[in-house]
Amino acid sequence: MRTHYCIDVNETLIGKEVTVAGWVSSRRDHGGLIFIDLRDKDEVVQLVCDPADSIDAHKIAEDVRDQFVLIATGKVRARGEGLENPKLKTGKVEIVVDKLTIENRSKPMPFDLGDEKVNDEIKLKYRYLELRTQKSYNIFKLRSKATMAARNTLDELGFLEVETPILTKSTPEGARDYLVPSRVHSGEFYALPQSPQLFKQLLMVGGFDRYFQIAKCFRDEDLRADRQPEFTQIDIEMSFCDQEDIIDVSEKLIHSIFTKCGFNIPNKFNRLSYSDAMERYGSDKPDTRYDLTMVDVIDIFERCNNSIFSNIAKDKKNNRIKALKVPNGDNIFSKREMKRFEDFVRKFGASGLGYFQMKKEGLKGPLTKFFTTEDLAEIIARCELKVGDVVFFGAGNRKLVLDYMGRFRVHLANLMGIVPKDKFEFVWITDFPMFEKEDGKIKALHHPFTMPKRDENGKISFDDIEDIGSIAYDLVLNGVELGGGSIRIHREDIQQEVFKLLGISDEEAKSKFGFLLEALKFGAPPHGGIAFGLDRIIMLMSGSSSIREVIAFPKTQKAQCLLTDAPSVVDSEQLNELHIRVRREIRN
Ligand code: AMO
Repeated sequence: MRTHYCIDVNETLIGKEVTVAGWVSSRRDHGGLIFIDLRDKDEVVQLVCDPADSIDAHKIAEDVRDQFVLIATGKVRARGEGLENPKLKTGKVEIVVDKLTIENRSKPMPFDLGDEKVNDEIKLKYRYLELRTQKSYNIFKLRSKATMAARNTLDELGFLEVETPILTKSTPEGARDYLVPSRVHSGEFYALPQSPQLFKQLLMVGGFDRYFQIAKCFRDEDLRADRQPEFTQIDIEMSFCDQEDIIDVSEKLIHSIFTKCGFNIPNKFNRLSYSDAMERYGSDKPDTRYDLTMVDVIDIFERCNNSIFSNIAKDKKNNRIKALKVPNGDNIFSKREMKRFEDFVRKFGASGLGYFQMKKEGLKGPLTKFFTTEDLAEIIARCELKVGDVVFFGAGNRKLVLDYMGRFRVHLANLMGIVPKDKFEFVWITDFPMFEKEDGKIKALHHPFTMPKRDENGKISFDDIEDIGSIAYDLVLNGVELGGGSIRIHREDIQQEVFKLLGISDEEAKSKFGFLLEALKFGAPPHGGIAFGLDRIIMLMSGSSSIREVIAFPKTQKAQCLLTDAPSVVDSEQLNELHIRVRREIRN
């Protein structure tokens, strides 16, 4: 229907006839002349409807409103002196229309396209209108480019793209499953995959050596800015490899995705062990774009004569006393703000937040009286304090302190405005523990198929189960977990042992993972892999604040699709066929 996209209408076409097609982004009637900004997928071009050129076209233009769909034919001409628009690629020219067709009309928009302040509910209900904005289109162009780059790079590296089932059995990744009832098998359910984890392992048993998939995953979990119930992974698995091989492939892949999308990033990324990340940043996904690292001062506090601190300091395995220095904090924050910091950490379970101010005459603060002059000097030296600095202390249970001090670090950095917005800081986190205790229950930190570190006899030995290491790694970018993976258990006896440690009985292991255990008995090769969150990569590349912006039809925080109104009630006939009786079916 068109001869040119709007973006191609430029000075080289002056005097030529073109036909363009698109949506009206604005219309201005200058009494006689009507100007229309016509937009297609990536640019706007100005149409001029002058009754002197075409009475018919001008008459039709009088009827035109925003977001009408037009096809316009006319001659390209240079815009008059001073009327050029440098913001547009087409800004030096305009089309003098002699044939105009209204292909479709539009109701008034429910919101101004591109208005950032419109509430999310309306935007999601009319998501296709938001997609019509330049900003959205650019995001999806980037996403398409990134996906192509991933496919091409993995293809070049010898990976085979394989699809794995969507209707399947539970693959645990720590979330709840989405279930699909079976019509044929009464009372039985499929689960949608939380990831292709077990199938990609089976492909290795099948001898495929190098697999990848741009895979849809489904997880029923609490949603946040970087989490959707349905999301996409770049999923990878390799045989006869170690951690270094996977890191190497991953760096090549991520480097290629970013460079193909026009971003400069290094070839190799820094590394931090899980324990260093936790001890210094209070997080296993540290934002390393800014300093603010925590320092251990538990030994100094052990000697102070405040029994609360000295008692905490006695148990160095389970407790922590951490100092977080804020350079020049004394001049940045008022007393009132310092008080609010305490309220902030209390929300995350802290019982308080101590601080010292570094004055010319030395450390000041309510806690100084509990320390000897030498110990105060040691605090100054260890935290490298200069006059004007403030140092905050968190003391108590290790997990709690690291967590709230880590959150406090991010909070401070945001308040201080020290987070560089256009910097990409990648860091590998390695040497994760195999297990963690949550509410007294043992959980796998990555997943139960991760290879635990074993002693020289090949045994999993431990005093404290949380001390068992694993060959697992995550890639973090600017404080967001981009990807995670591990070397897998390829021996059935080790897999059984890990299930036991997780408190999974033999029967449960057999009914849930019997197919995997069986496959491991048939010559499973050593293997490992990783999966990257494609949505998160695009979110960070495009500078979006939520992954919703980079998913064409995303869901709300409550996992609803406001556009189609899913999930929704189904009729009783369908439920009968599925052998399901709903106990309460009204959503309010
Ligand atoms: P994991 O659970 O760490 O590992 O997931 C890998 C990556 O997927 C992304 N991701 C998400 N993105 C958006 N919304 C979500 N709800 C969501 N959950 C996860 C993250 C994350 O780093 N099978 C393993 C991988 C492996 O071991 O190879 C797995 O799924 O970017």
